[in-house]
Amino acid sequence: MITQKSVQEILETVKVEEIIQDYVSLKRRGVNMIGLCPFHSEKTPSFIVSPAKNIFKCFGCGQSGDAVKFLMEHEQLTFPEALQHIARKYNIEIEETAPSPEAMAQQQAEESLFILNEYAKNYYADQLFNTDLGKGVGLSYFKSRGFREATIKKFGLGFAPEGKDAFTAKAVSEGFQIETLRNVGLTSKYDRDFFRNRVMFTIHNLSGKVIGFGGRILQKDIKAPKYINTPETEIYNKSKVLYGIFFAKQSIRKNDECILVEGYTDVISLHQAGIENVVASSGTSLTKDQIRLIKRYTPNVKIIYDGDMAGVKAALRGLDLLLEQDLNVKVVTLPEGEDPDSYLQSVGASAFQTYIDQQAKDFILFKTDLLLKDIGNDPVKKTHVIKDIVSSIGLIPDPIKRSIYIKECARLVDVEEQLLINESNKILAKQVTQQRNEEAKHTVWKEEGEALAKHLEQPLSPQQEATPKVIGDEFQEKAVVRILILFAGETFDKEEKLTVAEFILSGLEDMISVIDNKRYKSIFEDSIKSLLDGKKITTAYFTQHDDPEIRQMALDFSISPYEYSENWEKMHDIILTTQPMPEQNFNRETIETLKRFRLRKIQRMLDKVDQKIRALQEKDMNDPKIIVQIRLKTKLKQMHLELSKEVGMFGSTGRL
Ligand code: UTP
Ligand code: MN
Repeated sequence: MITQKSVQEILETVKVEEIIQDYVSLKRRGVNMIGLCPFHSEKTPSFIVSPAKNIFKCFGCGQSGDAVKFLMEHEQLTFPEALQHIARKYNIEIEETAPSPEAMAQQQAEESLFILNEYAKNYYADQLFNTDLGKGVGLSYFKSRGFREATIKKFGLGFAPEGKDAFTAKAVSEGFQIETLRNVGLTSKYDRDFFRNRVMFTIHNLSGKVIGFGGRILQKDIKAPKYINTPETEIYNKSKVLYGIFFAKQSIRKNDECILVEGYTDVISLHQAGIENVVASSGTSLTKDQIRLIKRYTPNVKIIYDGDMAGVKAALRGLDLLLEQDLNVKVVTLPEGEDPDSYLQSVGASAFQTYIDQQAKDFILFKTDLLLKDIGNDPVKKTHVIKDIVSSIGLIPDPIKRSIYIKECARLVDVEEQLLINESNKILAKQVTQQRNEEAKHTVWKEEGEALAKHLEQPLSPQQEATPKVIGDEFQEKAVVRILILFAGETFDKEEKLTVAEFILSGLEDMISVIDNKRYKSIFEDSIKSLLDGKKITTAYFTQHDDPEIRQMALDFSISPYEYSENWEKMHDIILTTQPMPEQNFNRETIETLKRFRLRKIQRMLDKVDQKIRALQEKDMNDPKIIVQIRLKTKLKQMHLELSKEVGMFGSTGRL
């Protein structure tokens, strides 16, 4: 148990922003700092850290607390573990009352693995620099690859000598337990060295501790694997490690981009050339844990592939995981036969940088291009390609991004957009069902509700009212009016004793102020008022209305209920139910039409909020109103996302 005095000292010393910055990229905003929330997926920062109050708070998902809470939530630490983490960082000596024997044993075991690894790293380095064989074989090899001495030292490169148990014997003679040597993967169960006659690459964890090694063979003719890596141990879990992350994390944050390469040598070479935001997945396809690790620092990933088309194709499928995690993925391919290391060495740092900047292609478009090259005129192959691409697009959580890709790919593949939409909806449908099962309802904050309500009361700017043809939502509005007039008195929900009119009107009440068309707006206002007065709203209510304009509209709609043309639907995203008798289907149509209407309105409000944020920021970056707007934006985005998921299941994905 950590004593109360130590707890006190830790809490008084810790600076919340210094802890959080190890995981989240933060930018100054006046007295506060802001960044992307690590607890939920977002693209607009709503995660605020207050150094003055020593707390953080996310206005998107509601997570909040101090440094200890952050570590507990983010790193899944227990309270004492979080305290220890902080104490280590600040070199605070912890006073403890006697810990439980099990806890002590566990901790000591783990600590001893790290100590042994550190020892091994130094041993291999010593072999590299101070023995004839190490210098003659290992060091000269690294130098021939262009690695400078400082780089070699920084990355902990080394040399493992040839003998069967040279390292093991030395370590044991210095007091390390053979058990520990086995547990850390450096010694086989027959007490042989795991790494023999190889040049060594040290693998560090996020905080720079040595967790394992990779060893490269130098002889060409031997039928052994080129690299062998530390087997899974208590502290080395291959699927959770990214090679180079400790040296790259600052730079990834600064550049807001993570470059991903395949090999150890690629990481080291690029780093040495000043491109430091680079990590390697070490030859395997990315895992979820590795992606999460990247996501702590940036949503942007640029993958540089070795110039080997067969290899690239094989790797594509693995990238879907990145899309699913909502990362922005770009791909760079190198000339045939080159890897990042070799290409960099041959063209030099600045040409290399130019190349990767210019060649970076969006992953989906890259994939589409690549697959298309193979299909010729074969329609069957084309169908497969389409399915393949769409299945990737369908994984992207953001509906807006998704529909951009769909458009772009429809163009590239040269098929009707609708075809791609249908395919992607199938995937979405699957996901939504899955998600429903998992997802807990988000809590709506009171303040947010109020801000939203306030926002909705604001009238549109004259400019917005003047240009409804361009950005207006008249078609969505018209669709709602039509349903209201045609099916007003029908029972929408038997159990709730709810009519279609009641359902629709309560569903758009909060959006009355952002309705473009004045006549539609007045119909809605009028019927809401009548509803509140206890009047029955039916089709007859409209067709016999006092207001001649409303009467006329009602008649127009009820006389020609099928006036939609197919084009209309395509152009304006109005759902047209496929059944011949729409009146038999008014329930679903009502729901869908209202959803689409709301989606459009939310999009409009989002645009407005964006304008507002920009305007406020231009005047004063520290204006507290900005936070309210950001929070509002987060809320709207969430509503938008949820709605688009649902809408996307039945029709096209919503206009941009
Ligand atoms: P590469 O074969 O591209 O190696 O494998 P490299 O890093 O470019 O090395 P050089 O330039 O040929 O010396 C890429 C990565 O895949 C893993 C290693 O992590 C390597 O860096 N790998 C490769 C293995 O784990 N085992 C192998 O046998 C080969
Ligand atoms: Mn390589």
